[in-house]
Amino acid sequence: MIILDGKKTSNDIKDEITQIVQEMKNNGEKVPHLAAVIVGNDGASLTYVGSKVRACERVGFESTMVRMPNTTSETELLREIHKLNKNPDIDGFIVQLPLPKQIDTQKVLMAVDPDKDVDGFHPTNFGRMALDMSTFIPATPFGILELLERYDVSTKGKHTVVIGRSHIVGRPMSILMGRKGFPGNSTVTLTHSHTKNITQITSQADIIITALGVPGFLKAEMVKEGAVIIDVGITRVPDESRERGYYITGDVDFENVSKKVSHITPVPGGVGPMTIAMLLKNTLLARERHRE
Ligand code: GUN
Repeated sequence: MIILDGKKTSNDIKDEITQIVQEMKNNGEKVPHLAAVIVGNDGASLTYVGSKVRACERVGFESTMVRMPNTTSETELLREIHKLNKNPDIDGFIVQLPLPKQIDTQKVLMAVDPDKDVDGFHPTNFGRMALDMSTFIPATPFGILELLERYDVSTKGKHTVVIGRSHIVGRPMSILMGRKGFPGNSTVTLTHSHTKNITQITSQADIIITALGVPGFLKAEMVKEGAVIIDVGITRVPDESRERGYYITGDVDFENVSKKVSHITPVPGGVGPMTIAMLLKNTLLARERHRE
């Protein structure tokens, strides 16, 4: 059984980006600049955005964090987005999700300039992805593709089962795994809360990508011998005995499932760190496009 080590792989990618940024600096060029907008005080969101900003520092990018209160109106947020769209110093930016209830997420994502949409959430970029055109691929699916590629996991002709149809992970993942090329050329089944007899489907899968947020959902009896397991779940489980007051766990019953499979991602240290590395990669891509 091979552990798909997202922490190590993301460090390799960050080292590669650091080198490219160093060359940009040596040539007197502007370095990539990522901005992140965060509305409210959600603990997990603040942690994610903090990690994104630290990752920028590590590779030599500039970064800007825009913090707005939980009471921010949709108009105020849209005004901030227009400022970032117009600011020539910013190469790419993200609006951390979820947003407070008073704000229409779809409207906000549509206001982001597609050329700066390093999350790949704008309908233009999502459509480009579905049509095999060059675009910003959403960071989590992009990170999974990169992990499969770097570990040379075969996907051609395999049956990939995706669990969860979120706009951020499941839906784009189902499109990407069925695309031409590598990693891709898979036969894809997209499952969700209305899927009947999910065990019958997952137990036929060569590759399972689970993005549900339900700890321990995927059990050993749902998995075929030798399957490849990608766990995108990140759930904080309260635990007073830990210093932070919680621990992080995935969708997969790792202890039992890992005994049956050929490859598996751990949580933490699997898909999570890859997401951040690929956001950096998209920001680098945005800088390179703006330079041309
Ligand atoms: N919330 C959970 N995942 C993501 C992500 O990849 N990007 C943004 N902007 N928000 C998120």
